[in-house]
Amino acid sequence: MKILTSPGAMRAWTREQVVLGNKTALVPTMGFFHEGHLSLMRMAAQYADTLVVSLFVNPIQFGPNEDLDRYPRSFTKDCELAEGEGVEVLFAPEAGDMYPPGFQTTVSVEHLSRSLCGADRPGHFNGVTTVVSKLFHIVQPDCAVFGQKDFQQLSIIRRMVQDLDIGVDILAHPIVREPDGLAMSSRNAYLDADQRKSALSLSKGIALARSLYTDGKLDTAVLTEKVKKHILSYSGTEVNYISFIDCSSLEPVDRADQETLVALAVTIDGRVRLIDNGLLAGTG
Ligand code: PAF
Repeated sequence: MKILTSPGAMRAWTREQVVLGNKTALVPTMGFFHEGHLSLMRMAAQYADTLVVSLFVNPIQFGPNEDLDRYPRSFTKDCELAEGEGVEVLFAPEAGDMYPPGFQTTVSVEHLSRSLCGADRPGHFNGVTTVVSKLFHIVQPDCAVFGQKDFQQLSIIRRMVQDLDIGVDILAHPIVREPDGLAMSSRNAYLDADQRKSALSLSKGIALARSLYTDGKLDTAVLTEKVKKHILSYSGTEVNYISFIDCSSLEPVDRADQETLVALAVTIDGRVRLIDNGLLAGTG
């Protein structure tokens, strides 16, 4: 596996692949790989001849009081895991390579970036769309795979690709969960044993919403109250948001139906913010 750090070297490598007639898939990541990331890599490998994984903890998608400094990192182990998945290039630039002095251009998907995590984390999605569009320009992949745990991120990236005529197919991978239901996330590494129990409030909250929906409870104000009460029954939990939204438009809905997704963000002990989501009519 090649490890490339400069955008120029990465671009040169992709040019060679185009000449060779190879299709390239990209999995953008911030590292600290877990089974969720590895599943994205396996899926990406099925859609292309060559697989590139980017590993970059993108500073501009973190707010001033967020966890950029303590974000978990394990470069050596990540390299081993990526190599084990047949990754051909790990693109791991430094912040200075991506944002050299004088950098001042950002990409913003206006409306979709305002709600849910965007309301909670101002500027976060502009950081994401800016780095993802840079990665698309540098790597020039044919397709890229994103996880559905970051459902809003996925919708925003799809919108960006459509609006800016970026020729990259966006593929979605279902949420990968621990056996007890906790959605896999690099941020789970922050949880101690008690917080790990409280983290289950998210998947259990989604399960409760699904069972109420199946029982015919469709008023989302009622569903929100019941899910909130359930989540707050776990120690140290604070609800950032619980939203019942249309899965295409991400607009809140008053009455739940087949297309309704419940999206949540919960902070545990004021330190660890986790997100999760699920279609009410779904299972994953
Ligand atoms: O989902 C992530 O890990 C990040 O937001 C991404 C897409 C790699 C951009 O930094």
